[in-house]
Amino acid sequence: MIDQFGRRVEYLRISVTDKCNLRCVYCMPLEGLDWLKRENLLSYEEIASVLRTMAGMGLEKVRITGGEPLVRKDLPRLVEMIAEIPGIIDISLSTNAVLLGDQAQALRDAGISRVNVSLDSLQEERVDAIARRPGSFGRIMEGLDAAEAVGFDPIKINVVLIGGQNDDEIEDFARITRDRPWHIRFIELMPTGSNLDLSANSFVSCQDALVKIRKMGNIEPVDGPAGNGPATYFRFPGAAGTVGVITPMSHNYCDRCNRMRLTADGQLRPCLFGSIQTNLRDPLRAGDDLVPLIEETLRIKPERHYLIQGSDEGSGGLVALSQTGG
Ligand code: GTP
Ligand code: 5AD
Ligand code: SF4
Repeated sequence: MIDQFGRRVEYLRISVTDKCNLRCVYCMPLEGLDWLKRENLLSYEEIASVLRTMAGMGLEKVRITGGEPLVRKDLPRLVEMIAEIPGIIDISLSTNAVLLGDQAQALRDAGISRVNVSLDSLQEERVDAIARRPGSFGRIMEGLDAAEAVGFDPIKINVVLIGGQNDDEIEDFARITRDRPWHIRFIELMPTGSNLDLSANSFVSCQDALVKIRKMGNIEPVDGPAGNGPATYFRFPGAAGTVGVITPMSHNYCDRCNRMRLTADGQLRPCLFGSIQTNLRDPLRAGDDLVPLIEETLRIKPERHYLIQGSDEGSGGLVALSQTGG
């Protein structure tokens, strides 16, 4: 699958639910969102059917996202179904890890090889305040322990930078990578409808983070761990892990974008942002051929996103990244 800008698309992010058990300040409103109705969600069989079609067109890698994917019942069953599809060589998971302690082994056995975990602070009170669910920190730590114990590799930690709430911990996060094989990625906050104040007033750029990290010692650019995403990686000499940055606000990785997204209700989105989406669910349920629809979506994949800090212009009316899986 090659788009009109010559980008090879071989990676699909699948959101399996729009629901989440946390309410991260930059993501979801405290009161939650109008959740999708159950009958509108793709079943696991339907997701696998879309994937079989796409695998026939060149899809190789799949990442399972949400909302929070682990709140959907029996996720290992979906993973097993995906693992059996010829052509799919990599299945990964993005999670907040609250439920990972219970599910890590089953997910690993089913075919997940690696996980990305959101962790915005190393301090218990802060994590609970950012996630707005008391008790989260302890569960996340159990989830991370389980991730290591069952052998997910690599383990990547996502830290969304929020001025005044965690930007004084950049050095603490970076220091961990000297001893622990974690890949800590700092992410620039992207504006969506529910976080316009925060994204206007508390934005911290990854360049600022790198300035702080460079003061701790020499870091060198490295290829980084297995992955398909937009992060750029660095390493302290001899360190066990890496430090990465994800800089969506300068849209400097759109030219190497390799992905599309499938929302929980079966919309194929060629870009995280913007309003273009193709309904695959209804044609799938009607027994239609999805190939022409997928080809057309690929054809109109935008060159880049047009996000503006503190504004929902360019986001295509997106209220939260949880609606598309980030
Ligand atoms: P790997 O490199 O395969 O580990 O995946 P990843 O880093 O793409 O996945 P993850 O779900 O951990 O996403 C990390 C951050 O990157 C999140 O904030 C995502 O919203 C963001 N992100 C991922 N893909 C895109 C993209 O295509 N465009 C933009 N703007 N942001 C993205
Ligand atoms: N800006 C940047 N990253 C975000 N995430 C969720 N919402 C945003 C946002 N507005 C991150 C989560 C998770 C990843 C999948 O997306 O923290 O780590
Ligand atoms: Fe849930 Fe992830 Fe959004 Fe936090 S960022 S509310 S964990 S979907």
